[in-house]
Amino acid sequence: MFEVVSNDVLAPSLHRMVVRAPRVAASRKPGQFVIVRSAPGEERIPLTIGDADNAAGTITLFIQAIGASTRTIVAIPAGGFLRDVAGPLGLPTHIEAWGRVACIGGGVGTAVLYPLAKALAAAGNDVTTIIGGRAESYIILKDELSAFSKEVLVTTEDGSMGRKGFVTAELADLMANPDTCPKAVFAIGPVPMMRAVAELTRPLGITTVVSLNPIMIDGTGMCGGCRVLVGGEPKFACVDGPEFDAHEVDFENLFDRLSTYRGHEAADCKLNRQVQP
Ligand SMILES: Cc1cc2nc3c(=O)[nH]c(=O)nc-3n(C[C@H](O)[C@H](O)[C@H](O)COP(=O)(O)OP(=O)(O)OC[C@H]3O[C@@H](n4cnc5c(N)ncnc54)[C@H](O)[C@@H]3O)c2cc1C
Ligand code: FES
Repeated sequence: MFEVVSNDVLAPSLHRMVVRAPRVAASRKPGQFVIVRSAPGEERIPLTIGDADNAAGTITLFIQAIGASTRTIVAIPAGGFLRDVAGPLGLPTHIEAWGRVACIGGGVGTAVLYPLAKALAAAGNDVTTIIGGRAESYIILKDELSAFSKEVLVTTEDGSMGRKGFVTAELADLMANPDTCPKAVFAIGPVPMMRAVAELTRPLGITTVVSLNPIMIDGTGMCGGCRVLVGGEPKFACVDGPEFDAHEVDFENLFDRLSTYRGHEAADCKLNRQVQP
């Protein structure tokens, strides 16, 4: 059992949960994730390790409650327990001293980006962070990211904060100026956003890394649930990723696989609402 130390709401449906998991805290590296189960019989949910405090033996998870299982997890208050926290899983992020890098986060992807941007800055990179969301209330971790970014640029779809539009507009501006054009780009967020970033950087051949979020079941490379196509070859995001070269990823295939269980999930959420009005 893993104690929930704190659970606070950062944005609509987005929670920051600090969980006591000393062994995970001691060994995790940026880019890795855990598989969480709220109770026996519940679904296994992959969640990025957003941060860790080795001295306190805690890890920080950022959880967007989008379906039945994530809603069950975020409903656990401080003092409650998660049944399983397995990890750290996945390959750590490959960090290099590129010089100038752009880190791009969309929605909850911003939380997943956080440990990565921190590690890139610690390795001596000049980090420009671009974060986007539907509206101001969805913009998260701006101050935390400012602590190690040269600049944090914000875009919102409704123009309520920062530039009106998508993160790609800010990236295009950075790329247009030789003094700000990044040597490497990291993008984490909705699949259409990651695909748009990949298409923008492709003509200039800028190293671009995305963190993929296919459905995962065992997280150990045995079930095949997280299969993605990268460079025309099947890869398992849980053991070969979750980060991949964005220019090699087959995003259409990822879209298809993510929508496979949409009908079942909608029915599951409806059932849950009937049981817990
Ligand atoms: C390596 C990895 C790290 C992740 N890290 C985080 C994180 O730090 N914070 C966070 O909030 N989420 C993260 N996710 C996504 C998270 O695992 C899913 O949102 C979660 O599994 C959905 O479960 P659910 O039962 O609540 O929703 P469901 O009821 O299963 O699904 C609700 C809706 O979300 C879609 N969906 C299902 N699984 C995913 C998925 N993996 N990605 C995107 N959409 C999905 C479904 O098609 C459906 O439309 C990560 C995913 C991966 C693979
Ligand atoms: S989650 Fe089962 S192979 Fe990756």
